[in-house]
Amino acid sequence: MFRIAHISDLHIPPLPPVSVRQLAGKRLLGLFSWHYKWKFEHRPAVLKALLAHLQDQEPDHICVTGDITFTTLPAEVDLAADWFSRLADPQQISLIPGNHDAYVAGALDYALEKWSRWMRDDEGHPGFPYLHRRGPVDIVGLSSAVATAPAISSGRIGSLQLEKTEALLSRIKTSKRPSLLLIHHPPQEGAASARRALSDRKKLQEVLVRFPVDLVLHGHLHYPTRATLNGPSGPIPVLGAASASTIGNRKSVAHYHIIDMETAAGQARMTVRHYHYDTETGNFSLSETQTL
Ligand SMILES: [Fe+2]
Ligand SMILES: [Fe+2]
Repeated sequence: MFRIAHISDLHIPPLPPVSVRQLAGKRLLGLFSWHYKWKFEHRPAVLKALLAHLQDQEPDHICVTGDITFTTLPAEVDLAADWFSRLADPQQISLIPGNHDAYVAGALDYALEKWSRWMRDDEGHPGFPYLHRRGPVDIVGLSSAVATAPAISSGRIGSLQLEKTEALLSRIKTSKRPSLLLIHHPPQEGAASARRALSDRKKLQEVLVRFPVDLVLHGHLHYPTRATLNGPSGPIPVLGAASASTIGNRKSVAHYHIIDMETAAGQARMTVRHYHYDTETGNFSLSETQTL
C-alpha cells in the first residue's frame, strides 16, 4: 500500500509586507482583495492544523496542486518554501504551480527556482511535465500557470508541454505502473467559466484518450469536485481538492485527500479519504471514504 496526500490552493497566509515598488497593476488589485476579503478566509491556524494532521497520516508522498501563494511576491514564495521544508523530505513532495504563482509576468521564474527541489524530475532537470517515480506510482506534474490580465484566472498548458506530456505518458505506459497526473486547473468540461478555465483542456483530454493515467488530481476551484475523463478502456477519475487553508466563510471549508493505493495484477485500487476542517474543534476530521 502506498499512501498519497493531495493538498491544494494553500495561498499561504499571512501575506508579508509589500514595498511601494511592488504595488503595481494586477498585484495592487490582488493585495487589495487579499486585505479586504481573502485574509479572513485563508487562516494561519488552519494551515497549522493541516500540517499536524497531514503528518499524523504518515503519507508516503504529498502532491500539491498549485496556488501556493496569493500574488507571487518573492517573500510569499520564500514563506512557502519554509512551509514545505517543514512538511516532509523533498523526495516526498511533488509540487506544481497555479495561476496565483504566476500572478504577474515574470513572477513565476523566481518561484520555479526557489521551489525547484520539489519540481525537478528524477534526473534533476527543471521544466514541465516532470516525472516523479515514487514507490509503485508514476507521478506526472504539469504546469497550467500563466500570467493573465486582472480578473482572469485561466490556465494554459501550451503545445510544447502537451507534446512532451504525450511522449512521457506513452513512455510510462509500457511500465504498467499506476500513474497520477497533477494539474492546477480542472481538465474536465464545464468545471469553470472561460475566464477561469484551462483553455487547452480539450487537447489534454485527447492525449489522455490515447495515453490514460489512473487518476487526475487538480485544485483551483476551492471546493471538492469529482469528475471523469474519457480513457481508452473506461473513465479516468478526476478529483479536485478544495483549498487546504480556508475557514469556510466564503467558499468550502478547508479540505484535502488521503489516497491509499494498492496494486494487484497491474490494476490500481484506490481508497480516497476526504478530510475537512472542523471550525469547532480546530482540527481536520474524516468526512467521507470513497473507492476508485
Ligand atoms: Fe486558488
Ligand atoms: Fe487557481
